[in-house]
Amino acid sequence: MKTLTLSNGLTIPAIGFGTYKVSFPEILTALNEGYRYFDTASFYGNESEIAKALEHSGINRNEVFIASKVWKNDMGYDSTIKAILRTLENLRSDYVDVMMIHWPRPDLELEDWKGLDIETWRAMEELYAEGKIHALGLSNFLPYHAENIFAECRVKPSVAQLEFHAGYMQLSAVEYYRNRRVQVQAWSPMGRGRVLNDELVAELAVKYGVTRGQVCLRFCVQESVMPLPKASTAERMRENLKCFEFEIDDEDMMRLENMPCLGWSGEHPDRARVKI
Ligand SMILES: NC(=O)c1ccc[n+]([C@@H]2O[C@H](COP(=O)([O-])OP(=O)(O)OC[C@H]3O[C@@H](n4cnc5c(N)ncnc54)[C@H](OP(=O)(O)O)[C@@H]3O)[C@@H](O)[C@H]2O)c1
Repeated sequence: MKTLTLSNGLTIPAIGFGTYKVSFPEILTALNEGYRYFDTASFYGNESEIAKALEHSGINRNEVFIASKVWKNDMGYDSTIKAILRTLENLRSDYVDVMMIHWPRPDLELEDWKGLDIETWRAMEELYAEGKIHALGLSNFLPYHAENIFAECRVKPSVAQLEFHAGYMQLSAVEYYRNRRVQVQAWSPMGRGRVLNDELVAELAVKYGVTRGQVCLRFCVQESVMPLPKASTAERMRENLKCFEFEIDDEDMMRLENMPCLGWSGEHPDRARVKI
């Protein structure tokens, strides 16, 4: 499995399995198909299903990477410590590989969200120092949210998760993180399936003799963004792992980078959710 080394020295697989709305059977299948990085969150309610699947698979804990996230209503120093210890209990593990703050603002009315983010980060730093977390990260933090963390932190973020796919790249945020050696991860790397219907993606799948899903994931890989695809069947999981077996040429990368906007999830850290 291809790997990436984070700025704090932790080496992780270069693709992860997205687990939102996924439970034990799919996680076990993903383990059997070769996934070794699982993206979860306390909000997904499936941390214990990951632990159960891992135990069932017979694979050692230290061969697998698990990332989780502190949910909005667990932010603040004391609540974050409690929430992460609960995550560790759910995972039946004495550490979690990557821990992120899920969203920078728990609600849009809160004025001092910067103060709350720092308190949350402090708690994460403390558990990092104790070895209970192996890397810290930010999820859905745009550059002006992340600046607050960079200005105050003792431990820098190693990972940043953003909605990212061909047709919705959030390039200024991606560039911001690249310049700070923060590994960007793509959530919804296939736009929840939307990108698979695009005509350029379809054309390139035929040209390279691959599937549309593989074009989407390979695009992330060549942008140095780690994809986190979710899939329900063993065939799709296997297909998605094969995005490392071909290369999109420079001209086609430019075409994908400049394709028309393909929509987004409707979730943005500073806006009420838009129903798409
Ligand atoms: N940090 C955050 O706030 C945040 C937000 C959203 C998501 N995420 C993370 O990102 C992960 C992935 O995002 P996502 O689930 O929204 O979107 P996604 O991975 O872009 O798309 C998943 C959809 O694509 C389909 N699919 C997967 N592989 C396929 C293939 N090879 N061919 C055709 N269709 C395929 C899946 O169908 P089937 O399931 O039917 O196979 C599913 O409907 C989540 O599971 C979660 O871990 C994080």
